[in-house]
Amino acid sequence: MIPRRDFLKGSAAALLYRAGQDAFSQQSLSSGRVTFDERSVLVDGRRMLLIGGSVHYPRSTRAMWPMLLQRSKALGLNTITSYVFWNAHETSRGVYNFSGERDLGHYIDLCQQRGLAVFLRVGPYVCAEWNFGGFPPYLRDEPGITIRTMDRPYTARVEAFFERLAEVVRPRLATNGGPIVLVQVENEYGNVAKRYGEAGQEYLRWIIELATRVGFASVPTTTCQGGAQGAIETSNGSIISPERIATLRRTRPGTPLLWTELYPSWYRVWGGKNAPARDARSMAGAILDFISRGGSGFNYYPWHGGTNFARNSMYLQTTSYDFCAPLDEYGNVTESGVYLGRFHAFLQEHRSILLEGSRSESVVGSQRKTTWQHGSDELHLIQDDYQEHPLNRQDAQTMNLHARLLNTNGETLFDLDTVRDAVAHSFSASAWSPVPQPLSRSIDWVVWEEPLPAQRHEGGIVSVEPIEQLSLTKDKTDYCWYSTTLRVTDPGPQEIVIPYGGDFFYVYVDNKLVASSKLPLKEDRGPIMPENPGHPNIAANSGKTDQESPFRNSFTLPSLTAGTHRLDMLAVALGMIKGDWQIDAPMNFERKGIWEGVLWNGKPLRNWTMRTRLVGEQHRLSTRPEAVAWRPAGGGLRPLRWYKTRMDLPANLLSGTAVFRLDATGLGKGMIWVNGQAIGRHWLIPAASPADALSQRYYHVPADWLQVSNEIVILEEQAAAPASVALQMRV
Ligand code: GAL
Repeated sequence: MIPRRDFLKGSAAALLYRAGQDAFSQQSLSSGRVTFDERSVLVDGRRMLLIGGSVHYPRSTRAMWPMLLQRSKALGLNTITSYVFWNAHETSRGVYNFSGERDLGHYIDLCQQRGLAVFLRVGPYVCAEWNFGGFPPYLRDEPGITIRTMDRPYTARVEAFFERLAEVVRPRLATNGGPIVLVQVENEYGNVAKRYGEAGQEYLRWIIELATRVGFASVPTTTCQGGAQGAIETSNGSIISPERIATLRRTRPGTPLLWTELYPSWYRVWGGKNAPARDARSMAGAILDFISRGGSGFNYYPWHGGTNFARNSMYLQTTSYDFCAPLDEYGNVTESGVYLGRFHAFLQEHRSILLEGSRSESVVGSQRKTTWQHGSDELHLIQDDYQEHPLNRQDAQTMNLHARLLNTNGETLFDLDTVRDAVAHSFSASAWSPVPQPLSRSIDWVVWEEPLPAQRHEGGIVSVEPIEQLSLTKDKTDYCWYSTTLRVTDPGPQEIVIPYGGDFFYVYVDNKLVASSKLPLKEDRGPIMPENPGHPNIAANSGKTDQESPFRNSFTLPSLTAGTHRLDMLAVALGMIKGDWQIDAPMNFERKGIWEGVLWNGKPLRNWTMRTRLVGEQHRLSTRPEAVAWRPAGGGLRPLRWYKTRMDLPANLLSGTAVFRLDATGLGKGMIWVNGQAIGRHWLIPAASPADALSQRYYHVPADWLQVSNEIVILEEQAAAPASVALQMRV
């Protein structure tokens, strides 16, 4: 591990922290018995104002954890929230990994060492824009399974996982001397419960029972968006409306109001809209509004978004999960972070009156005034009053921008606008700059051409109809070739239709790329099943357009001469779905590649050969590039190539606080590795908005993955070249 200097040194943000820290008088939460009432959670009888932030441990490296937690603490969080990512721990059926980068126990211990409480959201389902919503991909193929129901093939695997997980979690529960004060089970089950009626309720009861049986429930259990008897039901959203609060008060008497997901912006999908950062005042204002209606805990989702390294993204999710969070993808404190740090300091200082004081409210004109009274102390909050709370995320994020807190004498203690101005005035972030390369050496790329199916040695899997991709790959790779022969008798343009296919296809005829899937791809793809269950293959969906059915892929091929031609289609997966609603079916119906046959000029096309994984993957080129002979890059731009180079880093940069990224300008789509570590999928696809933006141009390279001389390996699917790819740093 590389030693990192004190991150605060010298920065403008540092001065703000130091000023703020004296005032923090942080509530240190020792472990003990955790209880709750309508007012708040209590740790050993002491009321807790839960100031939480989601920091997902697999979205950064183990070496980054101390820095992220340190900064979170310095900015006034008292709780770290994280999902447990089942598929990060059960990497193949029955094989568990809780060490190294997956050392959840170590992560929780680091929280405790910094006096941070932990709110653990154990799943088994997490959503989270994570591959398959956190489920291990093998689950899809368990015989007879219906995921997220009482089906035995499902519950048996959850039980096995929870029993293993409990070995890590149990000793770290607050009741056993650890920092975990709350455990959430499942996630937003309300979204799918409708599908299952009473059986859905039974499932929720079962998961609470299981959590209790394995020992999690010695601290209070929670559920979010969808409740279960015996658990605290928490809320998610950009704001929490008074109507939602009233409903919870009615349906869940005796439980505290906790806000589990407060969004600082939104995640990005390839080719989608890039949501702007949320004004930090609107977050602080929404929190004050929530507290003024009785809320006693909130959690930024995410506080640090981080990176979906390797193939961890859900379907269509970009590799970056920055989310415009208060700590940016690299862990740097943003201006919002500094602002919220000041706000948290204020809340920490006034938590007794907020939690123990009596509360009254009045509305004067368009202003709503809340007064807390505790002994002779008073605290007043003046905010805009709202008649209606919008459901729309954008609108919610421009609400609650102005609020003032006053003391007994009417002096202003905290004004959202004034503090914003002060922070804006003093905040400065250093700029990104190129990592200087030694003058003696230019960056020379070498190339290795990925063999097309005609050049591959292995025979492949032969079948009359194309076989669905995941049943062949088990999600160990994104790639699967589907090959067959076109016996052309009618020369002219040809039409190929894949009625049900995913996620992205390249079509090669006679070893030349002639077409690819149309864009944009849709995040929610609609029903994955053919409308006519009696179809055998194909017939269904053929009448629709690609727009009407996002699974339908049609390609017009150039004129072909009479005779035999090779057809090779490369199916590329973009991550498994995160939830049922993306396919209108239980998650085990998720499919990739081709699963309802192919039409050629309206007729079934048969006799296929499937080859999974690229040859470069079989050679493990990302870690063993010496396995093949590379040649200098140059000449024509053939698609589907591997590129490799070395980039140097001055040694002094490695021991500092610099963070690094690759500017992927010039690349098309594929995957990137640095020193054998999987940076993730790249795709230089234009965003739907703003007009001139890409979905993702920069790719996080964790500092602890770098050394003085670095090997970069790129798999590029398209006719694009890495000549402009460059390493950048920010100190
Ligand atoms: C919620 C879900 C989270 C995350 C979030 C969007 O509905 O609980 O896991 O997916 O949406 O970022």
